[in-house]
Amino acid sequence: MTPIKNCILNKNSKTNPIWIMRQAGRYLPEFRKIREKNKDFINLCLNKNIVPEITLQPLKRFNFDAAIIFSDILMIPYGLGQSVSFSKGFGPRLNNIDINSMSKIKSEKFTNKLIPIYESIKITSKNTLLKNKDLIGFVGGPWTLLVYMNYKMSPGEENPSFFNNEFFKEKYLIDKLFKIIINYVKIHITHQVKSGATIIQVFDSWAGLLEEKYREKYCYEPTIEIIKHIKSLGVPAICFPRGIKNYKEFVRNVKPDAISIDYEVNPKKILNEIDIPIQGGMDPKILLGDKSDLKKEANKYLEIFKDHPYIFNLGHGILPETKIEMVNELINIVKEFK
Ligand code: CP3
Repeated sequence: MTPIKNCILNKNSKTNPIWIMRQAGRYLPEFRKIREKNKDFINLCLNKNIVPEITLQPLKRFNFDAAIIFSDILMIPYGLGQSVSFSKGFGPRLNNIDINSMSKIKSEKFTNKLIPIYESIKITSKNTLLKNKDLIGFVGGPWTLLVYMNYKMSPGEENPSFFNNEFFKEKYLIDKLFKIIINYVKIHITHQVKSGATIIQVFDSWAGLLEEKYREKYCYEPTIEIIKHIKSLGVPAICFPRGIKNYKEFVRNVKPDAISIDYEVNPKKILNEIDIPIQGGMDPKILLGDKSDLKKEANKYLEIFKDHPYIFNLGHGILPETKIEMVNELINIVKEFK
């Protein structure tokens, strides 16, 4: 692993590091206030006067060990000229694309569109709240981006057979698009690291949709390439291949510096299968319940991973209904665990 001073992956502190996926988001009243005034989510992600503030909101309130830059995995399709919008209760909607003309886009054009993100990272990384803490940059996994760009909305969990049959009908075009995505994922990572991101997390949120026959080509192979790229830039890589049936096989193939697990993973089993640092796992719904159940469940993960490098996090993003009080309680539980 790339040694970085005080990195959440170098476990030399007595307590487990903690950060939470979507820690800057709708459960925070101070975020909702900004969001109300900024109806266009993509424009908000491109506002370098506000993004650093949103990114640091959770660190002002809570004792987290890392910030994650406030952005979205869909900024890559946006940078490639595909329009992206969000409607309440539906999630993202993307426009049709012409893959042939997309393949002719110049990387300077992409970078220019996304420059405010890189400037936001520069500004954020200089803030004293981040002294000795990580600033996590991120990308969507190529497969997950392919799903959004070609299906043009969230796939939902219901219909995996579609993504293993009909989705690949126009194979030549799909593979052409996939190559473009991989290239721009690498470009986006390079700019984030050069601007001050100290770790990169790869969110392959829809890895679980892939049947075994497609896993190698659409998940392992491109992710191996991306992990090599991240390591070549001198920062560590965390992978979150949500829902992938076989985390052991993923880690053996892809070799990230740490693996983030979803809430369907059996923590005891994975502990015996994997020797790299582990992150996450606890079901975000636990934070909607009562404090005694939270304590029981958080302690379960802390106990299981007590002799293993473990970054406390959830098995998916924190839910908008979560109460602030429960987040404070969770952090206390993690920091008091011995
Ligand atoms: O973690 C963080 O705090 C950093 C910010 C972050 C966001 N999105 C902000 C956001 C990160 C890391 C993401 C990643 C992301 N975006 C993923 C991968 C993680 C996952 O959830 O599986 C995916 C699949 C997306 C695409 C996307 N963007 C979806 C499905 C949605 C939700 C739409 C909805 O209506 O809930 C978004 C929007 C989004 N991205 C929000 C936030 C805070 C909510 C926007 C709002 O305020 O309405």
